[in-house]
Amino acid sequence: MTLLVTGGAGFIGSNFVLDWLAHSAEPIVNLDKLTYAGNLQNLASLQGDARHTFVHGDIGDRELLGRLLAQHRPRAVLHFAAESHVDRSIHGPEDFIDTNVLGTFRLLEAARQYWQALEAPEKEAFRFLHVSTDEVYGSLDADAPAFTEQHRYEPNSPYSASKAASDHLVRAWHHTYGLPVLTTNCSNNYGPYHFPEKLIPLCIHNALAGKPLPIYGDGRQIRDWLYVQDHCSAIRRVLAAGRVGETYNVGGWNEKTNLEVVQTLCAILDELAPRADGQSYAQQITFVQDRPGHDRRYAIDASKLERELGWKPAETFESGIRKTVQWYLAHQDWVRGVTSGAYRQWIDLQYADANADTHTEASTSSTTKEPA
Ligand code: NAD
Ligand code: DAU
Repeated sequence: MTLLVTGGAGFIGSNFVLDWLAHSAEPIVNLDKLTYAGNLQNLASLQGDARHTFVHGDIGDRELLGRLLAQHRPRAVLHFAAESHVDRSIHGPEDFIDTNVLGTFRLLEAARQYWQALEAPEKEAFRFLHVSTDEVYGSLDADAPAFTEQHRYEPNSPYSASKAASDHLVRAWHHTYGLPVLTTNCSNNYGPYHFPEKLIPLCIHNALAGKPLPIYGDGRQIRDWLYVQDHCSAIRRVLAAGRVGETYNVGGWNEKTNLEVVQTLCAILDELAPRADGQSYAQQITFVQDRPGHDRRYAIDASKLERELGWKPAETFESGIRKTVQWYLAHQDWVRGVTSGAYRQWIDLQYADANADTHTEASTSSTTKEPA
């Protein structure tokens, strides 16, 4: 038995691969294009482990997909590969359409052809698990109930629209062709190997480098945070027992404003790695221009997953965020490795415009700070 994982060198995918091989003898074939977000260093501990086969390639490559499926005969495809950063989707949406929409289409087609040729009982057992996001549901009002699986799709960014399109393709491949699919829609993840373009690792990195911690707009936007290993355990559970054709929301019941998240990071850093001048890292909080079309609030109702499959997160936000800060403090080499040339170009592009419109938390007047 084998799993084909796509995007297994990225943040969640690499955590999943490491987690899976820590729990199971079942091998993984890991197909990843190694975009800026993919990093084989995440998987360095698997060097020489025969259970892990890494394949450098694109989910849009039909021929490669056909060959891999025929050669490794996986019992499931776990589809993590995507362009995942909302801000990058605003600057350049085309890669998001190529990978998230067209790439998912090609992967579905390859999986369908492979699955249709399988004999029982392999055919009944096969699963295509699509890893998706809560962002497909759009933005919630402050007092609205959390997203259930019935919430209508209202994606607002090029990223979430491309993920919504991929969810619809997955659904259609089940309804039309009978492909045995499962879809998970998860809230914001955080934890080890999180690329420092996203809020939490960016702020840990900038704090330690003495740089501003850029908060978009008023910082009162709400996200629902889940420790990445809890997302991995949810995916394992859905793969093992999820009902074919169903979607499952995954979340940590941890709604926080962005400002609360960054203030929590600062408090933990003040304790574990105090600034030389004795001041709090919170001094570095800097309000910058808002993200265009910024969704105000996400909140996930994960009760279906708990009720039907008995899954619950193991970490609270408090325990998970502390572990995360500790991981970054202990892995500064990893951070240095991913924050070199191309990363600097992204930071310059994304935070350059914000220079015109920044203020610190202490003073909302005209103080201008360099955001990154
Ligand atoms: P990531 O950006 O860290 O990693 C994506 C990985 O996919 C990288 O290793 C990259 O090299 C690979 N990839 C990109 N294009 C590819 C292609 N065409 N072919 C093969 N590989 C390709 O993303 P992540 O944060 O780990 O997210 C993984 C999945 O989980 C995505 O589908 C994302 O939409 C979903 N998701 C993420 C979060 C989150 O908070 N990060 C929450 C919910 C759902
Ligand atoms: O909800 C799940 C989604 O969570 C995933 O599908 C995406 O792949 C993942 O990137 C994440 O999207 P967000 O846009 O919510 O994550 P990000 O870390 O980019 O931003 C979190 C919040 O923090 C968001 O409200 C924007 C804000 N933010 C972000 C950055 C990078 C800032 O205020 N300043 C920043 O510099």
